[in-house]
Amino acid sequence: MSIIVRTNRLLLREVEEQDLAVLSKIYADRECMQFYPSLKSPAETRTWFQELSFDSYREHGFGLWAAVELSSGEVIGDCGITLQETPEGFEPEIGYHLWRDYWGRGFATEAAKACRAHALNSLGFDRVVSITSPQNVLSQKVAEKVHDRMEVYQKRLHGCGRTVDRYLYISQAK
Ligand SMILES: CC(C)(COP(=O)(O)OP(=O)(O)OC[C@H]1O[C@@H](n2cnc3c(N)ncnc32)[C@H](O)[C@@H]1OP(=O)(O)O)[C@@H](O)C(=O)NCCC(=O)NCCS
Repeated sequence: MSIIVRTNRLLLREVEEQDLAVLSKIYADRECMQFYPSLKSPAETRTWFQELSFDSYREHGFGLWAAVELSSGEVIGDCGITLQETPEGFEPEIGYHLWRDYWGRGFATEAAKACRAHALNSLGFDRVVSITSPQNVLSQKVAEKVHDRMEVYQKRLHGCGRTVDRYLYISQAK
């Protein structure tokens, strides 16, 4: 088991094969996925973690990690760093997806703050961001607590060509 960081209440560790069942529940849930274009089948969730966890660990040394509640040992979701396209190019982005029973307890903020510190202090990035849609207020509240400032940018959606606003939360190494 490859541990990335430990916080007061959480362990962030590399995702393992046996985590995919519980993580698939999040990506197949209407409430958890309300700001995503569609729900994911178990096969689509596997592809997601293949790219953003397993391949990313090998290629970049970071990716989406499993968030484990220390008191119970349960995997409560994922949080981690992936490369995402922003107006500056591809940048390290902190993302978080928790099973909804664990919302409203500060776990996402705790995990994302640990990822911010890991990105800036251990991985040596000058800048790390989070991206949210204007509708995802819960995600914005997390990002506001984690990052230093926010900018709005326009993103052209693949396929339909429609342009949408995105909120870019930015942390910079001091
Ligand atoms: C985005 C998401 C992770 C946010 O989860 P969340 O539970 O709202 O965020 P946190 O875990 O940081 O919890 C924050 C809340 O817990 C409260 N809280 C309760 N106990 C707390 C404690 N011990 N410490 C800190 N905060 C605590 C905070 O007051 C805060 O509520 P508030 O914002 O109303 O003040 C969650 O909605 C989710 O998984 N959504 C689906 C996936 C998704 O959309 N991801 C983002 C893509 S951009």
